[in-house]
Amino acid sequence: MKCIMADPTGLCFGVRRAIDQLEEALEEHCRVYALGSPIHNPQEVGRLEKKGLEVVQSPQEVPEGGVVFIRAHGVPPEDLELLRGRRAHLVDGTCPFVRKAQEQARRLSQEGYFVVIVGDTDHPEVKGIRGHVEGNVTVINPALPVYTDFPPASRVGVVCQTTLREESLIKIVSHLLIRTEELRVCNTICRATVLRQDSVKKLSREVDGIIVMGGKNSANTHKLVQIVQNSGTPVQWIEQAEDLDWRWVEGKNTLGIAAGASTPDWLIHELHHILESSRLSKGMDG
Ligand code: F3S
Repeated sequence: MKCIMADPTGLCFGVRRAIDQLEEALEEHCRVYALGSPIHNPQEVGRLEKKGLEVVQSPQEVPEGGVVFIRAHGVPPEDLELLRGRRAHLVDGTCPFVRKAQEQARRLSQEGYFVVIVGDTDHPEVKGIRGHVEGNVTVINPALPVYTDFPPASRVGVVCQTTLREESLIKIVSHLLIRTEELRVCNTICRATVLRQDSVKKLSREVDGIIVMGGKNSANTHKLVQIVQNSGTPVQWIEQAEDLDWRWVEGKNTLGIAAGASTPDWLIHELHHILESSRLSKGMDG
């Protein structure tokens, strides 16, 4: 049995950077509070909790003077203000690409544009970007068929959730183009997600089955699974190596491995190790 890894796959730059910052903070302080889950992966959160991480849902839950980690999605400025009011020590893991989207949204509003954020209204990253707008703003979710909440505006500035698909941005921009006098578009899509999706699509044409590894709460991992399913290649979604169904692996000569953008390296290494051990014990070649 031969194993081929999707390339690129696994942790994106922003999440890797944020988790490194969090690890450093945990080494320095015995307790670090994360505003929202720092990564969509239960095994990694469990590992970090053992080192002193405590996940809270609001700034009010952070004790006075506590150490607070801001995850890669970023937060609205109001949350930062509340934390400063509690004299919290901030460890800011906001991804630089998310920060850029926040800054562009702010600049557009300062220049008098009606800001449209294309993305999922309830997503923390979108809430964070929205918080940086100083004037009129609305969020358009491309997954919804009608954009009823868009009021008439002559000057519209667009930014988007970093994980948005390009087709979705094009769809909304085309919709707005014929309804405004001036349209300014800041393409804030991050290529990390698109590249991971393209790599798994390519891999699905080369292998007999793909193991996709990642949290069941991870939207980007779910998307990878859907891409493989749509290709017709058998797929198994696991969170950790011990979840692997060996009957599914039987009879497959070439196996692909892909991981979501929030799957830590150590989980992928464990899977590699277990597959390699099984290959050696069965005396397989490849
Ligand atoms: Fe940042 Fe892109 Fe990852 S925006 S958090 S590098 S998906």
